[in-house]
Amino acid sequence: MTVYSTVDVSPLFAPLAVRGRILRCRVVLPPMVQLRPITSAAGIDWYRARAAGGAGLVIVEATAVNRFGTELHADNLRPLVDAIHEGGALAAIQLFPVTFDFPRTEAPPAPADLSIDDIAGIVDEYQRAAAICVAAGFDGVEPHGAHGYLLNQFFSPGQNERTDLYGGPQVNRERFALQIVQVLRPLRDKGLLLLYRHTPIGNGYGIEDSRIFLEHLVQAGVDILDISPASDKQPGDRAAPFTGIGVPVIAVNHMDEVDRAVEVLHEGRADLIAVGRGLIADPEWPRKVREGRFEEIIHCERCNEGCFGHLKKGIPVVCTEWRDL
Ligand SMILES: Cc1cc2nc3c(=O)[nH]c(=O)nc-3n(C[C@H](O)[C@H](O)[C@H](O)COP(=O)(O)O)c2cc1C
Repeated sequence: MTVYSTVDVSPLFAPLAVRGRILRCRVVLPPMVQLRPITSAAGIDWYRARAAGGAGLVIVEATAVNRFGTELHADNLRPLVDAIHEGGALAAIQLFPVTFDFPRTEAPPAPADLSIDDIAGIVDEYQRAAAICVAAGFDGVEPHGAHGYLLNQFFSPGQNERTDLYGGPQVNRERFALQIVQVLRPLRDKGLLLLYRHTPIGNGYGIEDSRIFLEHLVQAGVDILDISPASDKQPGDRAAPFTGIGVPVIAVNHMDEVDRAVEVLHEGRADLIAVGRGLIADPEWPRKVREGRFEEIIHCERCNEGCFGHLKKGIPVVCTEWRDL
């Protein structure tokens, strides 16, 4: 399929300043596990290509906080950050609270499985991981609070069965995420941007509950809200209710439909758009859109074979649209 656009695409390429950092455009690479180690040549090349293709912000995939300080440290992460910067993008990384394996070898912990000490330990791991990210040169870190994973489960009444300070009323279900943001906050003084990824409608909560939570996250220090609906059936425009909170908001889901992405920005339903599978298919999507080379775009056809399919099998993510496969 060829993508055409008849609209003025310039809103996609307006720079955005966030606390002194300049994103050269409004296109974000959302975090996507791609199953090449992020410190390997292949992993670095994956991100280098997507930064060089014109994205304004590259968010490196979900990475478990317990890997920092041992397997991941400033020296072996720096080449990844440098590759992203050389491509002209800002570099952020998504931080996952517990071990994150594809394919999953064991069931991940649920809120009820964690002791108070376990929670405090994860908060400490976030602090250590983020400090290493600063030392490696990252511009931002993003706790993964979306998609029904642990932090999202803590927030979700339908998945949080705790009866202590971390369960029950919303103020308690927000606590884990807020504690993480609070320990990361001092790193903002070193220039680090704090992002937070959240799913706006989930198990037992809706948009209004999310709005209250996101306001609290912003008060605690979050600089960019990354709103991910978590389902292909939900529109990326779910970001809209949160644009009034006072920080830039990222919308994601099918934003590689150019006219729609422009409309979302134009109507103020988001400040940034993330293109996931579209940037797996074609890392040069931003540049080709900017230059009007729509017929040259390798378009994601939503077959989900090379991306989600490969994730399930535990093999490196590719795109079935690539001609040399
Ligand atoms: C292969 C693959 C891996 C993904 N890994 C992550 C991840 O690590 N963290 C995350 O929050 N979302 C992850 N996602 C979701 C994407 O960030 C994005 O929200 C989703 O693909 C919808 O955007 P799209 O319609 O532009 O593809 C992943 C998606 C794909 C296809």
